[in-house]
Amino acid sequence: MKVLVTGGSGFIGSYVVRDLVEAGKKVLNFDLVPPEERNCKFVKGNILNFGQVLKVLESVDVVCHVGAIGDVYRAEENPRLASEVNVLGTVNLLEAARVRGIKRFIYTSTWEVYGDVEDQVLTEETANKPHHPYNITKYCGDLMVQCYSWFYELPAVILRIGTAYGVGMRDKAVIPLFINKALKGEGITLHGTGKQGRQFVHARDLGKAFVKVVDSSVTGIFNLAGNELITVEMIIERVKKKISSVKIKKEPARKGDIQPIPISSVKVKKALGWKPEVSFNQGFEELFEYYAHNLGKGCYSAR
Ligand SMILES: NC(=O)c1ccc[n+]([C@@H]2O[C@H](COP(=O)([O-])OP(=O)(O)OC[C@H]3O[C@@H](n4cnc5c(N)ncnc54)[C@H](O)[C@@H]3O)[C@@H](O)[C@H]2O)c1
Repeated sequence: MKVLVTGGSGFIGSYVVRDLVEAGKKVLNFDLVPPEERNCKFVKGNILNFGQVLKVLESVDVVCHVGAIGDVYRAEENPRLASEVNVLGTVNLLEAARVRGIKRFIYTSTWEVYGDVEDQVLTEETANKPHHPYNITKYCGDLMVQCYSWFYELPAVILRIGTAYGVGMRDKAVIPLFINKALKGEGITLHGTGKQGRQFVHARDLGKAFVKVVDSSVTGIFNLAGNELITVEMIIERVKKKISSVKIKKEPARKGDIQPIPISSVKVKKALGWKPEVSFNQGFEELFEYYAHNLGKGCYSAR
C-alpha cells in the first residue's frame, strides 16, 4: 500500500511516517522542508501548488494529510497564510484525491475545532463554535473534507486530535518552555490561576493511531486524545520536582487561556481498539531527559 503523508517532516508527521514505514507501508513524504530522519521517499513541494499535488498523488492509495500551519501563534500573526495553507491547501489535496481516485483520505484535525463550547465532555457530536483564527482555518479544512466525503463520496476520516506532545514538539509550547526555563536557571511565568490546561496526547500514540486508521476501512470523525487532563499548575509541580530552585512569577491570565474540557475518545476505541498508552508521567520524563541533554538545541523539525 502506498501512503502519501503531507507534512511528514513536521512534529506529528515524523511520528506518522516512522510508524507507517515500520508497519511496512510504502510512504511518500510531501513537505516544504526535508525531514530530519530519511526513512522514506521525500518529495519537496507545496500543497498550495495544485500541479505538484496532482503529480505526487499519482499511484497513491491513501493520503494522510498532516501538513498545515500548525503553530497557533503563527496563525494568529498571519491569518492569510494560515487560511491559504490550512483551507486551500486541504482543498487542493481533496481535489487531487478525487481526480486520482484515491481510496481513502485521512485529515488531521484538532479538538480546537470545537471552540468555545459549554459541553461537559467533547464528543464527535459536540457543536462547533471556533473563534480563534487557527481553529477556524482547521475547521474550514474539516468541513471541506466532510463536503468531499458527502458530495463526491471520497472515503474520508477526520481525526480531531488533542494537544500533541513529545520530542520534536515546538519549543515555545508550555511543557518545553517551562523545562527549558528551569534548566537555564530562569524563572517560569504563570499566567492566571494555573487551572487552565489540556488533554495532551503523546505523538507516539498518534503514530500508532494513524497506522490503525490506514489499515482499517473506517470513515467519519474520531477524537483522539490522551487519558489525562493536565493543568499548567501540574506541569509546574513536575518541573519543580526536578529543579526545586525554579522561581515562579505570577502574571494576569491571557486572552484565550481556557479551562480544560475532557475529550472523549470512546468512538475510536470502539471502532479501532486504539487507546493512548504513553502516560503523561512517562512522556514528561522523556521530554525532560531530552532537553537536559540537548539544552538550547531546539526541536529538530523546521518550522
Ligand atoms: N501539535 C499539536 O498539538 C496539534 C494538535 C492538533 C492538531 N494538530 C494538527 O496536526 C498537524 C501537524 O501539526 P504539527 O504540530 O506537527 O505541525 P508542524 O508545524 O510541526 O508540521 C507541519 C508540517 O507541514 C509542513 N507544511 C507547512 N506548510 C506546507 C505547505 N504549504 N506545503 C507542504 N508542507 C507544508 C511544514 O513544513 C511542517 O513540516 C497539523 O495539521 C495541525 O493542525 C496539531
